[in-house]
Amino acid sequence: MGYVQIFDTTLRDGEQSPGISLSVEEKVEIAHQLARLKVDVIEAGFPITSEGDFESVSRIASEVRGPTIAGLARVYPEDIERAWEAVKWADRPRIHTFVGTSDLHIEHQMRSNKKDVLEWAREGVRLSKSFAPEVEFSPMDATRTDIGYLSEIVAAAVEAGADVVNIADTVGYTTPVEFKNFLEELMERVPGLTDTILSVHCHDDLGMAVANSLAGVEVGARQVEVAINGIGERAGNASLEEVVMALRTRGDFYDTEVGVDTTQIANTSRMISNITGYEVPPNKAIVGRNAFLHESGIHQDGVLKDRRTFEIMTKEDIGLEGSNIFLGKHSGRHALKEALEELGYTLEGETLKRAFVRFKELADNKKSVTASDLEAIAADEVGSFEGKFVLDSFRVVAATGRQSRAAVTISHAENGTYEAEAEGEGPVDAVFKAIDAATSIKGRLTDFRIDAVSGGKDALGEVRVQVEFEGNEYAGRGLSQDVVDAAARAYVRAVNVYLSGAIKAPQVTP
Ligand code: KIV
Ligand code: ZN
Repeated sequence: MGYVQIFDTTLRDGEQSPGISLSVEEKVEIAHQLARLKVDVIEAGFPITSEGDFESVSRIASEVRGPTIAGLARVYPEDIERAWEAVKWADRPRIHTFVGTSDLHIEHQMRSNKKDVLEWAREGVRLSKSFAPEVEFSPMDATRTDIGYLSEIVAAAVEAGADVVNIADTVGYTTPVEFKNFLEELMERVPGLTDTILSVHCHDDLGMAVANSLAGVEVGARQVEVAINGIGERAGNASLEEVVMALRTRGDFYDTEVGVDTTQIANTSRMISNITGYEVPPNKAIVGRNAFLHESGIHQDGVLKDRRTFEIMTKEDIGLEGSNIFLGKHSGRHALKEALEELGYTLEGETLKRAFVRFKELADNKKSVTASDLEAIAADEVGSFEGKFVLDSFRVVAATGRQSRAAVTISHAENGTYEAEAEGEGPVDAVFKAIDAATSIKGRLTDFRIDAVSGGKDALGEVRVQVEFEGNEYAGRGLSQDVVDAAARAYVRAVNVYLSGAIKAPQVTP
């Protein structure tokens, strides 16, 4: 039985999803949960792209124990040196270096030629190997690369010391049978590949990322690159939970094993959804909320008699058996900490204190505090942002057929308190305009989403906004039982993120 390494790229390719921008604290918290999930490799980021990425990769490498920690680098020396500086603190550091190999990438994106690219790849792997004990090489857009040239470049990488060769279907173009044939031909042409780990990295543009990844396993891939909930560039990456549960449930067919603790899948999926704001569709395989529900009478009847009639996995397998968490207004900080740990969050110090204050406020105002409420508070606090502006209070008057009117009081860390009033089309618009007036910073709202965290009229409301300032978009999130308050907090947070200069890591050109 072969062992398939699970390489998680939620924090790197996943973070490249449109609209996702994670703070250092959020990435570290997620990495701890990925370690609990027992993935084999965490790709923590792309250190050359920004100070923030460098810091999060270094923090994860220093703090998170268990998995190999990988940092991404183009094949250029400055990228590789920066990646090494970030991952070197890990018990098992890895440099993952890549270069585009298809004609389209070489000629039109890099404006180079095959000979030079081959030399860069060879030198990039060699240099990486002079630093790191583990080196992974990825030919980007491999599936649209001429197999003859791909074989040459892969052979050069193997000769230069690559431990893992990762065949990337960068644009989600291949199909399962085609991919199998392609990989088999590559292995025939590059005999040295038998001494390295063959890996696959598939995108979901045609909805075949998981099928293509599994096709890779069928012909001998022993590492699969995946992301939680399938997030990633454009349509995303192969989803971790689908690949892992397919390999586990159909172990009879694939004859492989994985080291993932599947009972952590549900927690991890919810954490990624809460922190990134990317919702999981209800019918999504494995982690969608309907994935283990039976609607038709015949199915319900069958399951009551014997679950195996209509279930190939159980919800217990993925840790969805329902938590025993029961917290009320008399629960203490220790009980909250333990409950959060059960949900996958390790809040400490000031963050735990703030979460506790919010939990108490909620427990005073809401009939029951659910695990989803706690997860929402924890995700909000992990990502909480020490900004210059704080919303002290707001007042709003709204009535049918009339413009709403809002007044806000906002304090600034250095400059005191500001007050402003504004009218708008409804209470949210009025409050946002009053915030613009109070801060003297005008934003353009480009996205607004609101969700109830749990059921009930007294549920917590969660608002996510994207606001454009000076041509760049900034995200904000607010949580409150009052949805106008949640919206106002989300908006002020976006202003603070803008003022901190923390824009999403600029994409480096290959
Ligand atoms: O999709 C891709 O080609 C990548 C590489 C960096 C592996 O993400
Ligand atoms: Zn990718």
